[in-house]
Amino acid sequence: MKTPKDEYDHVFELLQQHHKWFQESIPLIASENIPSPAVREALISDFGNRYAEGWPGERVYAGCRFIDQVEFKCIELMKKLFNAEFVDVRPISGVVANLVVYTAFTEPSDTMMALSIPCGGHITMGKKRLGGTAGAVHGLMVEYLPLDYKELNIDVDRAKQRIEKLVAENRPPKLVMFGASVFPFPHPVKELADTIHSVGAITGYDAAHVAGLIAGGRFQDPLREGADVVSLSTHKTFFGPQHGGVLSWEKHAEKIKRATFPGMVSNHHLHAVAGVTIACAEMLAFGKEYTSQIVKNAKALAQALYERGFNVLAEHKGFTESHVILIDITKHGDGGTIEETLEKANIIINRNLLPWDIKEGRHFMHPGGIRLGVSEVTRLGMKESEMEEIADFIKSAIIDKKPLEEVKSSVAEFRKEYQKVHYCFENAVEAYKYIKIR
Ligand SMILES: Cc1ncc(COP(=O)(O)O)c(C=O)c1O
Repeated sequence: MKTPKDEYDHVFELLQQHHKWFQESIPLIASENIPSPAVREALISDFGNRYAEGWPGERVYAGCRFIDQVEFKCIELMKKLFNAEFVDVRPISGVVANLVVYTAFTEPSDTMMALSIPCGGHITMGKKRLGGTAGAVHGLMVEYLPLDYKELNIDVDRAKQRIEKLVAENRPPKLVMFGASVFPFPHPVKELADTIHSVGAITGYDAAHVAGLIAGGRFQDPLREGADVVSLSTHKTFFGPQHGGVLSWEKHAEKIKRATFPGMVSNHHLHAVAGVTIACAEMLAFGKEYTSQIVKNAKALAQALYERGFNVLAEHKGFTESHVILIDITKHGDGGTIEETLEKANIIINRNLLPWDIKEGRHFMHPGGIRLGVSEVTRLGMKESEMEEIADFIKSAIIDKKPLEEVKSSVAEFRKEYQKVHYCFENAVEAYKYIKIR
């Protein structure tokens, strides 16, 4: 019989095993990143045990003297990074940030346009029948933005036609959401914003994946291109920790504030707000260098995999302008099986639907694609030559079918040199060091 203390000890064993595993692995999940030791320190502060409902300075809780100062600083630094008139740092994740946008700008039964999930859209933009947040939680009628399969981007002419058709059918969109979970190229916000505004709709932009790239000046600038509101996660290309945020213009401030609180949050995870504030300072100091290395690394990894026989999509346009690459893996297996194989070699990637998968009868558990992101390996200090080595490991496991235990040992050896977080002010503690304070 296990005692409560046995169970307690077991959890710590699992946590420590996880840390050791990540020390020895190549993390290539596009939605993940590794925060600096400074951000980790903020996360274990007492802020994480407090409440601060409302706007800083106007709380309905006592004890917020220092919390308010940090949150005001977070807003100030985010405004600077994104050149935004208004910022709300209270949404606790990208999902919640999207719900804030839906609540502030639409009513249930309104029409919203976004990319479908196989085309890169996120479950927050999904239809009700798929259980997507937009449809199932906020009651929006979701219509799809058309994707040009070859360009891996929204087709501007067809998007305009679809908007006109929806207007003709008397269900004009109230919100058009740009942004995606597979987001290799900047979306045509500039090209479509006038059309969207001319039918009375709001131009939204989900920057969950690309917030860091935007802050570093390496992607697009949605607010200048016509976006009315931008939702984000703070931990994919941004420096972490896991949290969310909304950027907009002053004229929309009150609607967004109210949608966030009392609408979407009560306690908004104040330790995470402190972490985001530190991440903002790091991004201001190191963002340009970091994001330009991300794009170089993503292109280098794509090129190296392509040269080794993988069908990396969008070769004709340099594969990607962001942190992410998409591979049609059908020549070698299905996305689910490839993901499992690579995990056995300590290479952590994720399966992904390709835009045409559903039509070809493939399912999200065994899709035709895999998605790779380079934010975390870039933060660990890797450059273009390391991308070649990573491509070699992937080839050995998938194409050469080398014993996975052998690849795993080579991966662990390779990883030994990359144990520190880069692009930060202080990195005395190693990236995945397990910190014991008991
Ligand atoms: C496009 C997009 N939006 C929203 C989210 C949700 O973000 P979070 O995980 O921070 O809730 C994701 C997550 O991967 C995403 O890819």
